[in-house]
Amino acid sequence: MIIDKIINEVEIGLNILFGPTSSKRPRPDKKISGDENLNPEIKKNHAKLMRVNHSGEICAQALYRGQLFFNKDKTIEKSLNKAASEEIDHLVWCEQRINELDGKTSLLNPILYIGSIGIGGIASIIDKKYNLGFLAETENQVSSHLDRHIVSLSKNDVRTKKILEQMKLDERQHEMSAKELGAAELPKPVKKVMSITSKIMTSLTYKV
Ligand SMILES: [Fe+2]
Ligand SMILES: [Fe+2]
Repeated sequence: MIIDKIINEVEIGLNILFGPTSSKRPRPDKKISGDENLNPEIKKNHAKLMRVNHSGEICAQALYRGQLFFNKDKTIEKSLNKAASEEIDHLVWCEQRINELDGKTSLLNPILYIGSIGIGGIASIIDKKYNLGFLAETENQVSSHLDRHIVSLSKNDVRTKKILEQMKLDERQHEMSAKELGAAELPKPVKKVMSITSKIMTSLTYKV
């Protein structure tokens, strides 16, 4: 029943927003020791960058949940669930790193979650190949965004770099999987709107 599905989604949403506490995979930086080389200014900036990435992962979870809500294709469901589980790792790693850098997660996360679940749901209603196309393009834009963050990090913060590098590898893999399942290339204006929306989200979550 639809009402049960909605209640289940609310439960999952609250779980994601208020902290999945453990990742399935170990942290990519687990063999690297402390943050003694980081001065307070670098810590502050990197905590904000990780806040942006954490919010991106909140959006990713919501997009996947939205895309799964109306999806009836079992192959797509399997692929989305696998990617969503890897994104949980990203979410946990980002949150842990923010705490280590004495930062805070974004206050905008609940709004971002609700907005993203709606977008994911709409994408899944339109058409299967555009649903996958939307996913592939999201992953592509996230990877490019992570590239920019990786080069902007202080060389002393190897731990954050390791986390972001693994995340980037996973996002590229998600993009490839979506393409293998038959993702359609999105029209240029749609890509542009997605890119503008993500830039707005990035600059807002860097601040709050
Ligand atoms: Fe991710
Ligand atoms: Fe991803």
